[in-house]
Amino acid sequence: MKIDIVTIFPEIAEAPLRSSIMGRAIDSGTVEINFHNLRDWTTDKHNKVDDIPYGGGPGMVMKPEPFFAAVEELKTEESKVLLMTPQGQPFRQATAERFAGLSHLIILCGHYEGVDHRVVDALVDEEISIGDYVLTNGTIAAAVLADAVIRLIPGVLGDERSAQEESFAGDGTRIEAPHYTRPPDFRGMEVPKVLLSGNHAAIDGWRHEKAEERTRRNRPDIVG
Ligand code: ADE
Repeated sequence: MKIDIVTIFPEIAEAPLRSSIMGRAIDSGTVEINFHNLRDWTTDKHNKVDDIPYGGGPGMVMKPEPFFAAVEELKTEESKVLLMTPQGQPFRQATAERFAGLSHLIILCGHYEGVDHRVVDALVDEEISIGDYVLTNGTIAAAVLADAVIRLIPGVLGDERSAQEESFAGDGTRIEAPHYTRPPDFRGMEVPKVLLSGNHAAIDGWRHEKAEERTRRNRPDIVG
């Protein structure tokens, strides 16, 4: 898979995506990520990427020209063009699974008040939000999306089961049961006995019950 991230702060996406599991996915060639500076597609001497909004209002709006030049250069027939924006459709595990099956993502990152809407109308296939809150910078959201997608590519995680059995997998209606490791007694707080029993049917039953309990408490909105 190839991912092109287009932003005025490439270093914000590079830091998390060049480290740890993502860094290894890049180094092994499983994924190619290009971190582009949007200013490289400006043509004026000040490399201007924003301007005041028509109709008035606070803040600045990102100009269309550099985004058009970037997408025209990077896009192929295989590409899906995404715009990170708090006004987008919610990003879910199911969205990550859908994107993980694609061969090329171009991720445009907004900043300031927003992006000239002609970019959305003419270039963008999907506007994506990572949650109902506003970040200063869509680049942080792009790194979140890329991480969630890349870890689903076969070979990126050590243990493939981790991605199949985790929270939000499948129909997305359950989060995982609690996990424990050694020591079995920590400051008087004991690991549930069933997990030490070696009885796999009993452990599965306990995990199922705890997952449902935890979902009802923390995520009543997704209970099936
Ligand atoms: N840019 C600013 N806030 C965002 C969000 N919640 N999701 C995606 N991009 C954003």
